[in-house]
Amino acid sequence: MPMNSFINWIGGKMQLRETILKAFPTETPSHYIEVFGGAGWLLFSRDRHAPVEVFNDRDGDLINLYRCVQHHPEELQREMRLGGEQIPPLSRELFATCLAQLAMPGLTDIQRAARYYYVIRASFGAKRTTVSTMPKPALRHNIDRLPEIQRRLQDVVIDNRDFEPVINCYNKPGALFYLDPPYFKTEGYYEGFSREDHLRLCRSLKGIKGKFILSYNDAPEIRQLYDWCHVEGVRRANNLSYGPNATSVYRELLITNYAPPMPNGIR
Ligand SMILES: C[S@@+](CC[C@H](N)C(=O)[O-])C[C@H]1O[C@@H](n2cnc3c(N)ncnc32)[C@H](O)[C@@H]1O
Repeated sequence: MPMNSFINWIGGKMQLRETILKAFPTETPSHYIEVFGGAGWLLFSRDRHAPVEVFNDRDGDLINLYRCVQHHPEELQREMRLGGEQIPPLSRELFATCLAQLAMPGLTDIQRAARYYYVIRASFGAKRTTVSTMPKPALRHNIDRLPEIQRRLQDVVIDNRDFEPVINCYNKPGALFYLDPPYFKTEGYYEGFSREDHLRLCRSLKGIKGKFILSYNDAPEIRQLYDWCHVEGVRRANNLSYGPNATSVYRELLITNYAPPMPNGIR
C-alpha cells in the first residue's frame, strides 16, 4: 500500500509524487536508489520499487532517525513520548531544549532520533530553526505509525554519504536512480550544496549506465546543463511563498535520460 512519509521536509515531494511516478519507467529495475532521501515521499509511494532499494541522505541526524525506526521502533516510540504516555504538545521551550541537546555530544542514537523528530515536526516549514505556531496533530499520529513505517523500511539499505560515491556504487545497467537535490540558487536552505556540487552531479549523471529521473527547480541554467536529457516542466502550488513577490505556482523540472512513458508536463 502506498503510504505517506512520517516527517515533513524542505523540498519534500508530497505534492508532486503522483506526477513523478508517471514518469518512472514501466519495467521494474534491479535496484532503486533514492540518492537525496529527505522525507522519502517517492520511496513510500510504492510497496516496493525494486528487489534492492537504497535510501541515502548526507544528513547524519536524519539517517540516524531512519535507522532507529528500522531497528528500534518501539524504543524510539517510548523515547519520542519523552517519558510520558503521550507526546508533549507543541512547545517553544521543548523545541529549544531539543535543539540545544542535539548540538551536544553524549546522546544515544535513540535519544538523538527522538529529539530530531520533534525538531523537524515542530518547526516552521520543517526548517529546524524556528518553532511553528500551528498546532501539529500529525506529531502524535505519526509516532503511532512507526511500526508501519518500520515494515516498509525493513529491507531498505539506508546510507549516509555524499551523492557521488552512492551513484558510483550502484551504477549498473538495470538500476533506477531518483534524485532530488537541493535546488539551484536555493543554497541558503542546504549549507554546503554549492554551484560546483550542481556541476559535479551533472557530470556523475552523464556516466549513468541505467536510468535516472531528476527533480529540479525550473531555472535556465539547469535547462542548459541538462540539454542532453528529456526535460519536462511541471507545476505545483507554492506553499512556502510569502511577501510582496509571492507566487502561488512553483515551476519544477523532471529530467530523465530516457523518454518517460507518460509525459504529463509542459515544456
Ligand atoms: C530536496 S531534499 C529531498 C526531498 C525528498 N525527495 C523528499 O521527498 O522529502 C534534498 C536532500 O538532499 C540532502 N543532501 C544535501 N547535500 C547532499 C549531498 N551532497 N549528498 C547527498 N544528499 C545531500 C539534504 O540533506 C536533503 O535531505
